[in-house]
This record gives sequence, C-alpha cells and structure tokens, in this order.
Amino acid sequence: MLILGLESSCDETGVALIDSELGLLSHAIHTQIDMHRLYGGVVPELASRDHIRRVIPLMQQVLEEAGKTKEEIDAIAVTEGPGLAGALLVGVSVAHALGLALDVPVIGVHHMEGHLLANLLADPAPEFPFMALLVSGGHTQIMKVNGFGSYELLGETLDDAVGEAFDKTAQLLGMAYPGGPAVSALADKGKTGAVELPRPMIHSPNLDMSFSGLKTAVLTAVTNAEDPNDETFRQNLARGFVDAVVDVLAHKVIKAMKAHKMKTLVIAGGVSANKQLRERLVSETKKRGMKVFFPPLKLCTDNGAMIAIAGLTRLRHMNAEQIREHYQNMKFNVRPRWRLKEATGDWE
Ligand code: KG4
Ligand code: ZN
Repeated sequence: MLILGLESSCDETGVALIDSELGLLSHAIHTQIDMHRLYGGVVPELASRDHIRRVIPLMQQVLEEAGKTKEEIDAIAVTEGPGLAGALLVGVSVAHALGLALDVPVIGVHHMEGHLLANLLADPAPEFPFMALLVSGGHTQIMKVNGFGSYELLGETLDDAVGEAFDKTAQLLGMAYPGGPAVSALADKGKTGAVELPRPMIHSPNLDMSFSGLKTAVLTAVTNAEDPNDETFRQNLARGFVDAVVDVLAHKVIKAMKAHKMKTLVIAGGVSANKQLRERLVSETKKRGMKVFFPPLKLCTDNGAMIAIAGLTRLRHMNAEQIREHYQNMKFNVRPRWRLKEATGDWE
C-alpha cells in the first residue's frame, strides 16, 4: 500500500511517500525559515502563500524520486491540526482534492501524533506501551502511551514550550530564528556551572513544568552582564540554559516512568534533535535498565513522513466502515486547536 503524507501546519511544507511493506520511499521538505527570519517569527499569511507555491512541486518530486505515479497512491494522510488555520488549509485542500480525483481515502492526522509515531520509522522501533516526551516549538508534554491512539497526558508545561524557550534564548543571545540548534552548539562550548539558572518546578509534586521563568532569568543575565557580547559569557549562558532545561525534562520524565513502572521512553518533536537532551536521556535510562528511542534525526522536526506513518497506522486500525467514511469527503475540516486526546476517535 502506498501512502502520501502532507504536512503544512506551520513553516515547513513536508511531503513523503511510504510503502506499507518497504517503509519510507522518499521525502522532501521546504522550509520557510529564511522568509520568516526577517520578522523574528512565523508570519501566518506568508506561510500559507508559500505552502501553496511549494506543495505540488514537492509532491511531483517525491513521486519521481520513488519511481511512482500519483495513480499508484492508495491513501493520503494530511495534518488536520493543530497549527495555523490558513497553512493547514493548504495541505488539507490539496489532500482532499487529490483524494476525490484518485478516489482514495484521506486521513486527517494530529501533528503531535505524527511526531510521536515518527519513531516507528526508526530501526529498531519502540514497542507499546511506553512513556513519551513530546518537545516541540508549541508543546512540552509527558504522555503515557498505552497503544495506538491511547494517550494519557500526565504533565505539561504551564507556559512556554521548550522549543519556544530555546528560540527566545537564541533571540536574547542575538541569534536567528529558530535558534534551537544554534543555542545547542553554543552551549557545547560553554562550561557547566559557570552560569547557574533556575530549574522552575523541578521539585513540584506533579509532572507539570514551566519554562517562562527560565527565559526571564536569561534576560536578566544578559541585561546584567558587563559585556553581553563576550563570547565566553554567551557560551556559558547557553550552557546554563541547556543544563537547566535538560535537568527539568530528565527529572520529570524519569519520575513519570518510575511512578508508572515503565521501561521504555520515546522522545518526539523538534527538540528531540537536541544533542544534550539525547545524551542525558541515554545515560539516565541506561543506569536504570530502561531504554530510550529517538526519531531518526532527519525526521525530528516537521516533515511529511511522520504524517504518512501516522496515517498508515490509523488506517490499519480502522474497520471497513470507518475507512469508507474517509472517501469522497466534501466536508473537510482543519483543527487549528486540537488536543491529542481528542484525536483518538477512529481508533476505538
Ligand atoms: O517539531 P518542530 O519542528 O515544530 C513544531 O511542531 O513546533 O519543532 C521546532 C522547534 C523549534 O523551537 C526549534 O528551535 C527546536 O524545535 N529545535 C531544537 C533543535 N532542533 C530544533 N531545539 C534544541 N536543539 C535542537 N537541536
Ligand atoms: Zn512539529
């Protein structure tokens, strides 16, 4: 079975083709980062217009690379939410138009479920049940995943997402949007302990987190610095920030695993590409006889392959009647705000 995956929820147009037996055949991403950088963040209207320009050529590119024609597509998976409404509409409109033309089912996918299930494209892939840490530009959640579509939210950030904190720190350090990878690289050169930053809520009795205070602490450190442009200071501050973030995430997720007696941890979302987080979670899990899984590096940030694998997984769990409902759907929808636990309907 050949699945086309389309992602257009934010500032990346992602398209991929997955064969249900062979795995990922081809994938292509166009990132709008250079366009939005001028404004210091994503401009929704510009994002939608750029998705329109990119999506068809990218689709042609992945078909060509996989040696397939569009007539060979058996199903289409598309990000239905959460995200920017106009941006989502581009992917969803293209998916449904193509679905109607080819007479194939169109499966709406929750963006975070895509991130989570991107791990199924890793070798080896994790097995259910597992604890999941979802860390992206918009989400920071600890979730108990009992099986496909069975997601229990155990804790989340009460304010900023981790990716957002990375991006704001990058901005304060004078680096371009989105600054996650740049802050990580700078931190690599810094000294642990040279700049101590707070670890908000690390000892709170629940599994919730908070990152906005950390951002304020970075701002205060920059404001009070003798020379905020001094390279050693910038490196040490980046190190202090990354150490604080990684400490909080590692502490909370290990606490969740112990409390729920889980042995497998799965990391998902853009920040799962972070080197320091990966290293720390590998060592923390190893010393406790636990295992940790990360998505393949190229599939950590937004992409079409994660949407295709999530759509395929959904399809595999539907009965014939449920699948029929996904053909010739003229009432297609986008869900800019959508909680993952509300996205489980088709699975039950
Ligand atoms: O999942 P994603 O591509 O988009 C959302 O769904 O939000 O995540 C993007 C976020 C950005 O905030 C970016 O700075 C962060 O992931 N990110 C990183 C790294 N790579 C991407 N943060 C820290 N270290 C990285 N290596
Ligand atoms: Zn994402």
